[in-house]
Amino acid sequence: MSRLIIVSNRLGNPTKPASGGLAVALNGALNSRGGIWMGWSGNITDTAPGRGDIHVQELGHITTAGVDLTQEEYDGYYLGFSNSVLWPAFHHRQDLIDSKAEYIDAYRAVNRTFARHLREMLQPDDLIWVHDYHLIPLASELRAMGVENKIGFFLHIPLPPSQVMSAVPEHEWLMRSFFSYDLIGFQTEADTENFNLYAERRLDQPQIEGDRVKAFGSSVIAKAFPIGIDVEQFRDLVASEEAQELSDRLQTKSQGRKWITGVERLDYSKGLPDRLKIFRRLLEKYPENRGRSTLVQIAPPTREDVEAYSDIREELERLSGAVNGEFATIDWTPVRYIHRNVPRAQLSGLFSISKVGLVTPLRDGMNLVAKEYVAVQPDDDPGVLVLSEFAGAAEQMTDAVIVNPYDIETTADALQQALNMPLDERRDRHAKLKDIVEKTDVVIWCDGFLDRLRNV
Ligand code: G6P
Repeated sequence: MSRLIIVSNRLGNPTKPASGGLAVALNGALNSRGGIWMGWSGNITDTAPGRGDIHVQELGHITTAGVDLTQEEYDGYYLGFSNSVLWPAFHHRQDLIDSKAEYIDAYRAVNRTFARHLREMLQPDDLIWVHDYHLIPLASELRAMGVENKIGFFLHIPLPPSQVMSAVPEHEWLMRSFFSYDLIGFQTEADTENFNLYAERRLDQPQIEGDRVKAFGSSVIAKAFPIGIDVEQFRDLVASEEAQELSDRLQTKSQGRKWITGVERLDYSKGLPDRLKIFRRLLEKYPENRGRSTLVQIAPPTREDVEAYSDIREELERLSGAVNGEFATIDWTPVRYIHRNVPRAQLSGLFSISKVGLVTPLRDGMNLVAKEYVAVQPDDDPGVLVLSEFAGAAEQMTDAVIVNPYDIETTADALQQALNMPLDERRDRHAKLKDIVEKTDVVIWCDGFLDRLRNV
């Protein structure tokens, strides 16, 4: 079988349990197959741009290769073009795009550096799988260096409609870069449709035949491969001592109170201020929840050097403080807001006893927390998933309570409905959701993508 080479900006440690959608999924993919994982080493050095050292490490049957970046590269490629241009645009926040001329040059240059290092490691029948928005032009750089291996790409975040994509500087160049891949995978049918519509409207004489899109004298297969979780691994976590100890403690302490849980990086795309407003509206409109329902919101810090992230922390602290100030009693705190990473075993324990999993992003590629929440609900007395229609997961998880998080009033009503849902309805919805989560897990995602790539 051909060797698998995975390339992503964020390099996980295959020997440790990963957190975050991309790292969890790629750990799963490599652990079962072996291969090479190349990415940013996490180091910022002061060598000349483009000269970043590469650190190769053998970890069992997986080799990791970490590339150093200079401060200038990190600023332009990671903070700049990736996270101040592509991330906001792809999450429909054109208003937050902060574009500088040097960003795109740094983005191209780092992609070229990755390509140069990768070419040196390549064997002729290696299968290359590139991940996420940081590395869209990697294949075109590799092709320019004469690489003929099969190369696939998976986008973990949404692909916006062409009108939104037009806000990205040099979007035509970026979209053209996709045509150097053999296969590109998106999270949802909607993303795939956006790719095809962009091709139809913006490219010169495109031809779309089934999954295949032809343009610029080459062609690529574009298809949805919805990502999943490692169901077994997450269920093993919930059985661990750490998870059990936490869930027992929470249940003893709660005296019949209901936990509502949300977990995500403190990112503006996740709709966290709106979530607090939804919870406040629940307490105002349905006062029977006062003293009886608690929102646990875990939101670890992320990308704090990007300007668009600087206000959200303050806003969230202000909102949670305001809700607690208004509604707390001596023996009940309505909102528990945690601005730190929480170990995954503890998360699994918390999910398992939460009556509601509250997943209300304003825009999200997939959202694996929704799947993790469902995976560890007890079959006999499951909780309810309240899911934003703007999460990619809503395309598959139609038996969740689907909400529009921009509409605080109806989402507060839906939360009330979830908290009071009869057992039969909860069991019925849960059985269907669980089936989807199990049938579209990370192994199926990975095998599906790689089989298709091998056979293009
Ligand atoms: C999202 C992206 C990933 C990224 C992760 C964490 O899930 O799709 O590519 O690695 O966020 O963000 P960070 O900037 O810390 O890598």
